[in-house]
Amino acid sequence: MDFSQKLLNLKQSHLYRLRKISENTQNTQMIINGKSLINFCSNDYLSLASHPQVKEAFKQGVDKFGVGAGASHLISGHTSAHQALEEALADYTGQKKALLFSTGYMANVGVFSALKDELDWVLQDRLNHASLIDANHLIGLPLQRYLHNDIESLKQKLAKQTGQGLIVTDQVFSMGGDQANIKSIEKVANQSGALLMQDDAHGFGVFKTNIPKNSIYMATLGKAAGTMGAFVAGNEDLIDFLIQKSRPYIYTTAIAPALCVATLKSLELIKQGDQNTKLLANIRYFKNLSKTLNLPITNSNSAIQPFIVGSSEKAIHISKKMISAGFYVSAIRPPTVPKGTARLRITLSADHTQSQIKQLLTQLKHAIQ
Ligand SMILES: Cc1ncc(COP(=O)(O)O)c(C=O)c1O
Repeated sequence: MDFSQKLLNLKQSHLYRLRKISENTQNTQMIINGKSLINFCSNDYLSLASHPQVKEAFKQGVDKFGVGAGASHLISGHTSAHQALEEALADYTGQKKALLFSTGYMANVGVFSALKDELDWVLQDRLNHASLIDANHLIGLPLQRYLHNDIESLKQKLAKQTGQGLIVTDQVFSMGGDQANIKSIEKVANQSGALLMQDDAHGFGVFKTNIPKNSIYMATLGKAAGTMGAFVAGNEDLIDFLIQKSRPYIYTTAIAPALCVATLKSLELIKQGDQNTKLLANIRYFKNLSKTLNLPITNSNSAIQPFIVGSSEKAIHISKKMISAGFYVSAIRPPTVPKGTARLRITLSADHTQSQIKQLLTQLKHAIQ
């Protein structure tokens, strides 16, 4: 296998991926590759990853539970901290039960793994997150994709299915920031008897949850909650079934109990609402100012605000210009987004100041010309 030729091909097509090293906490101001930058590409939407109260809770969790869970949930790894967090997440989402997974990727594979023998077909939104598509392929269930956020396309595909099926959608789309119309999808799912699953990785903690009865809800804790891990929430039977059948749940070490203690504090802060109010004000300010500056914004109302520029080369060029000007904005290229829709994916956090947002947009206006 000639890896070096393959790597060269990636570089020549501007698709080679590079990691940057950050040297301080996840925050709006970061040191990246030795340079101080204002960070506009974190998923830490509520600025909880370095919140003093969350850090303190984490330390207390370490004092009480040590640093590792030591085993899987079904052996000796399920602590009172995991149990308390699951109960708090079920309560917050208005569901009977919740089940923790180590990451969102694993939670998605975990759901598909449990449903492997139960489903005849799966329909997914064309722009669903890679972990949902991978989960589907890895578990080997038949997959069809409907046009993005298009209920008619979903209905057309649905009309051709027989047997038990699953409809899957991101709630907030990870690269576009737009939201699925859960109410309409729920209606269509109910008419056909299909099960509905939503991935709310980017909406959890930002927007009020909308979870239809007897559906599957998945959200991650590494974004607005500022910690790590994920959970599935739903009715008692669903969660019990996942415990029995989900291989990525059964055959892995439970997340560190101290993380659960920290996440419980995050959840408290989410419920209290101050960080959320700041984030929503920042989103409004960003959108208004973008309009005033005639910048090409989309209809996203979430913390994810993309500027679609087209080619990968152009996206990288603008991202580099922004970094030289002191702003960390990532270029997102195919295959993460469809060909010809490479973009700058700007993400807003509660702790950004209006002055930082104004500087960003003024600089962006220069960079895209
Ligand atoms: C929509 C969506 N689902 C799932 C995941 C995976 O979550 P995690 O990072 O916890 O693995 C992500 C993000 O990375 C995501 O954007």
